[in-house]
Amino acid sequence: MAKVPLIASLDIGSSKIRTVVATAAVKNEVPNIIGVGVAPSLGMRKGMVIDVEEAIHSISSSLEDAERMAGEPIHHIFLGINGNHIQSFDSKGVIAISHTGNEIIEEDIDRVLEAAQAVSLPNNRKILRIIPKAFAVDDQRGIKYPVGMMGIRLEVEAHIVTGLLPAVKNIENCVHQAGVDIDDIIPASLAASEAVLSRRQKELGVAVVDIGCGGTSVSVFEEGTTLHTAIIPVGGESVTNDIAIGLRTSIDTAEKIKIEYGSCLPEDVSERETIDLSTFSKIDLLTVSKRQMVEIIQARYYEIFTLVKEELAKINRDGMLPAGVILTGAGAKMPGAIDLARETLNLPIQIGFPQNFEGVVDKIDDPSYATAIGLILWGSRFEGRSYGFGFKNISVSKAFGEMKTWVKSLLP
Ligand SMILES: Nc1ncnc2c1ncn2[C@@H]1O[C@H](COP(=O)(O)OP(=O)(O)OP(=O)(O)O)[C@@H](O)[C@H]1O
Ligand SMILES: [Mg+2]
Repeated sequence: MAKVPLIASLDIGSSKIRTVVATAAVKNEVPNIIGVGVAPSLGMRKGMVIDVEEAIHSISSSLEDAERMAGEPIHHIFLGINGNHIQSFDSKGVIAISHTGNEIIEEDIDRVLEAAQAVSLPNNRKILRIIPKAFAVDDQRGIKYPVGMMGIRLEVEAHIVTGLLPAVKNIENCVHQAGVDIDDIIPASLAASEAVLSRRQKELGVAVVDIGCGGTSVSVFEEGTTLHTAIIPVGGESVTNDIAIGLRTSIDTAEKIKIEYGSCLPEDVSERETIDLSTFSKIDLLTVSKRQMVEIIQARYYEIFTLVKEELAKINRDGMLPAGVILTGAGAKMPGAIDLARETLNLPIQIGFPQNFEGVVDKIDDPSYATAIGLILWGSRFEGRSYGFGFKNISVSKAFGEMKTWVKSLLP
């Protein structure tokens, strides 16, 4: 029997580097996860490499961890990148259909998406993804997939995600030096959405809010496609820093007490409750108020959700997403975050546990694995084969079938 191809993903976050290895989905099955690796993300800060040696070492140890569990070597990965350098905007492309019969073919989709990319980008920015939102043929708008239709003018409305070229190149370099090739680069927030959203939620209108370390990413979907993406530069790290400053502890101790006793619900904590820092640290010897810490956490999470609300207001979806908000990232595990998000955003809120896979489930049944699993699901559409495109440099003549799958997977 032919060996089932392996797919691997690498989610380079600001606090953790996560690797997942799976056997590709065969026919209607889902990918089967056979290995998971995690390592502290040293040498990285807010999505940028700040120390090449340390970053390579962290990537290697995450990969090795997963290889050990899978019992298989990893040669190539789908890479998830994040960071405040990632930006997005909407763009339009228009082309004429001039071949015989005026029937739109897949090559026209490539051409129109290329036309949408013809925007003046600063030299130091690279297009990471171009996502078709909707097509128009002549004056008929709102078309999901125009191949096979007749027309003389094809238009696309696309969402373009870019990254800072040197930042992306530095990460690529570190990954290569850690000994693996890159199948494709996908913004982490889009990958996370892949793992936690159903088709129906994407159709109705939903946002995925990933509360990571260096920041919080927001991806909004409606009518089956991406409506908006944004990065808010406030995440779990800001919460920890606030605790360290507010309670005069070291950053390490602040992080430990946040994870152990943190919550967004000060009303549930008595004024008298205290935390003895000496149980967490040899240098912090004070006793601090638990209530005060929880108030600090609540204030920062409130700020995060207020900034998410402002992001939704920019696209007129403040309080207007029928399928609500799905929280991912390890920051989503803060007790009381759901309640605070519900009150602030005035929307239904859920924690996004990754779905649509089999295999080693206990370790990854966690919102912080949404990006790594989403990358596997993204990759499994191509059965683990290496294409290295994202419409940014697609050669359609070589990849007609794959592109069709790709466009169709983004549109209902
Ligand atoms: N159980 C928990 N409760 C609350 N916060 C947590 C918990 N575990 C981790 N965190 C916080 O979550 C943040 C890390 O989240 P995550 O691991 O999703 O980030 P990352 O993917 O490494 O970074 P990023 O996505 O920003 O690049 C840290 O600030 C950490 O303090
Ligand atoms: Mg992350």
